[in-house]
Parts: sequence; C-alpha cells; structure tokens
Amino acid sequence: MRIVLVGPPGAGKGTQATVLAETLSIPHISTGDLFRANISQKTELGQRAQAYMSKGDLVPDQVTIDMAKDRMEQPDAANGFLLDGFPRNVSQAEALDEILKAQGIKLDAVLDLEVEEDEVVKRIAGRRTCRKDNKHIFHVDYAAPKTEGVCDACGGELYQREDDSEATVRNRLDVYHTQTEPIIDFYKAQGLLVTIPALGEVKDVTQRAMDALKK
Ligand code: AP5
Ligand code: ZN
Repeated sequence: MRIVLVGPPGAGKGTQATVLAETLSIPHISTGDLFRANISQKTELGQRAQAYMSKGDLVPDQVTIDMAKDRMEQPDAANGFLLDGFPRNVSQAEALDEILKAQGIKLDAVLDLEVEEDEVVKRIAGRRTCRKDNKHIFHVDYAAPKTEGVCDACGGELYQREDDSEATVRNRLDVYHTQTEPIIDFYKAQGLLVTIPALGEVKDVTQRAMDALKK
C-alpha cells in the first residue's frame, strides 16, 4: 500500500505512522525524521534544513523533494510506503504525482488526522523525543516513559525538540494552515482523502485508520 498521512503538527502522525507501517509491513518515511537524522549527523543537508526547521518554516521544495524521492527509491519501499510529513504543499503534492506516474504507480489513500488546535498545542508541549531514534515518541502526561527522561524502547535520552517552543509552534501552525491545508482539497479532488478523527487513545485512532484502509 502507498499511503500519505497529513495533519497539523502534533496531530499524532509520527505516533500512528510507526504502528501502521509495522502492521502493514511497509516503511515509514518521515521527511521530518530524515531532516533530523541529517542534523544529528551534521551533514550539509542537515545544516541547510536546520535554519528553516528551527523557525518552523518549510525547507525549500527541491531539497525536500529530492530527499523524499531518494528514500522512496530504496529497495524496501518497492512494494509500498507510508509518507509522514510529505507532501506538505501543493507543489510537493504535484511533484509526488510525477514521481509516482514515472514509476507507473499510484497512492491508495491519504489519511487526514483531524484534531483541534488546543489539543495539538497540549500534545506538542508535552512531547519528548528519543535522541537515539527519533521515531520513539513519548508525552509527559499521555504516554509517559517508565523512567523520566529515558526511552523505554532503546534507553536513549529523551529531549524536547527545538521547534517545539511556543513561538515556533505558532509559526508551524500558521504554515500548516496556509501552505499544507490546500493539499487536503488537492487529494479530495483525486478521491483519495479519508478524514480520521484523531482525538482519543492512540490505539483507537489506529483502529479508525485501519478500518478506513480496509474500505
Ligand atoms: P515534522 O517532523 O514532520 O513535524 P510536524 O509535521 O510538525 O509534526 P510533528 O512531528 O510535530 O507531530 P506529529 O503529528 O508527528 O505528532 P506525534 O506523533 O509526534 O517536521 C518538522 C519540520 O521539518 C517542519 O516544520 C519543516 O521545517 C521540516 N519539514 C518536514 N517535512 C517537510 C516537507 N515535506 N517540506 C518542507 N519542510 C519539511 O505526537 C505528538 C505528541 O502527542 C507526542 O508526545 C505523542 O506521544 C502524543 N500523542 C500522539 N497521539 C496521541 C493521542 N491519540 N492521545 C494523546 N497523545 C497523543
Ligand atoms: Zn529510543
């Protein structure tokens, strides 16, 4: 299956993507995680991306599209993938269509995780991310680790993302409304959009997403 996950920052895309990708045996491709891995490894791409990410702005399209394309062309993505955080504006969505068309493949569904703004602000404020593996995500209230500051999955140190500060989150939400939300209509017009109410327990949201994918 080829799936795109959209939703505002803090909607739970990374949390759901990890479970869905495992259940469906497809790789979880997160452009945010790929940028963060490049930042930790101090690559040129990471340095370039960091300037945009720390302000909550989008990294320029061409850099992002090339990185995503490269990842989608890895052998483990040959039979499907779950894209998280890409595409993030209409020109990225058009570029993705071109990439897929060139390979003669199509998306199966675009899942839009719907959560109101008050809740995403709470989710982001309490989020703690694993430094060793950015995919391990916790929350001080909703998904607390057994030992404070330590990742249950790998023992890595938990930290608060630099772009999770209040001012940056405000900008990320603005960027979401102005630049990312238009892709919802783009995919609605293609008949691919499925809205998933994303309030409630993680497992219930996963169940809603799985039910939607079975249809
Ligand atoms: P990215 O990493 O993609 O961040 P984001 O889209 O802002 O999303 P988040 O990671 O903040 O949230 P999420 O929806 O994954 O929520 P999570 O599962 O962690 O992008 C970061 C930056 O990279 C961008 O600002 C941009 O600069 C750049 N970038 C990335 N992609 C790009 C692109 N395509 N183009 C250009 N630039 C790009 O959950 C949040 C918290 O809530 C966690 O603590 C979790 O434990 C908790 N939680 C999750 N589900 C529930 C639930 N059901 N109930 C209670 N708590 C929950
Ligand atoms: Zn970890």
